[in-house]
Order: sequence, then C-alpha cells, then structure tokens
Amino acid sequence: MDKSKIPADQAEALGALMDDHRAVKKLFKAFKDTEDRNEKESIALEVCHQLTVHATIEEEIFYPALRGAGDDIDDMLDEAQVEHQVAKDLIAAIEGDPAGDMLEASFTVLSEYVAHHIEEEEGELFKNVIREKISLRDVAQAMAARKEELMQETA
Ligand SMILES: [Fe+2]
Ligand SMILES: [Fe+2]
Repeated sequence: MDKSKIPADQAEALGALMDDHRAVKKLFKAFKDTEDRNEKESIALEVCHQLTVHATIEEEIFYPALRGAGDDIDDMLDEAQVEHQVAKDLIAAIEGDPAGDMLEASFTVLSEYVAHHIEEEEGELFKNVIREKISLRDVAQAMAARKEELMQETA
C-alpha cells in the first residue's frame, strides 16, 4: 500500500502499523541473508518481540476500533484473529527453543505466514478502513502510547 494515498485522518495509525510491517520484513530478509547461527537466533528473537508488541497493539486497540464498521471488516478481523493465534504458536515455539534444530524451519514458516498476513491487512483490511472513512486519530495516539509502554515492559 502506498502511504501517500492514505487520508490524513488515518495516515498516522495506518502508517505506524505499516512501519512495523516493514521493520519485520527487513528482519525476515536479514535472517535469510546470514549464515551465522548466533545472528539468526538474535534476529529471530527480535522478530518475535516486535511481532508480539505489534499484535498486542492491534488486538487491544486497532481491531476493536474497527469492529462493527461493516460485515466485510468484521469477517477480516475474525480471520486476522485466527492468523495472530497461529503466529503466536510459532513465536512460542521459537522463543521456547531458539538454539534448537527447528529454528530455521519455524522461522521460515513464521516469516511466510506473517508476510501473507501483512499482505491481507494492507491490501484488504486497510483498504476497507479507508473506504469506510473510519476515523483513527484517537486510535493513533492510543496505539503509540501503548507501544511505548510495551517496548519498555518487554525490552
Ligand atoms: Fe495483524
Ligand atoms: Fe499488522
């Protein structure tokens, strides 16, 4: 999604989520690009942390703000919730045994899965949010505050 096409009222909230998406996608690539086992572990754990914070903000603030805005949106939110749960299971597996033999496999599945989820969020959910003109100014502020809190708690 092209950030410059987001209406002003929604740009901050959607832009912040997109920045998070870009950041983890960069780390997916960095994981692939390195052969160093220690580096792979630290990248994987960083991704798990970032995704956990991101998913928490979406689940606590962003998704609830969109609930009830339309049948299409509600269906997408249901799907997103299920996808988050699958991602959390993979994250738990990685965090539970980052030095294990399954790191490469688990992380590869996680990155493919999350890339798909990001595509659906930006390509379908965000588009509908823009179409329905859902106001996100307060949501942006609440998300930013919660993110700061979570980053400190779990750093
Ligand atoms: Fe999500
Ligand atoms: Fe997201």
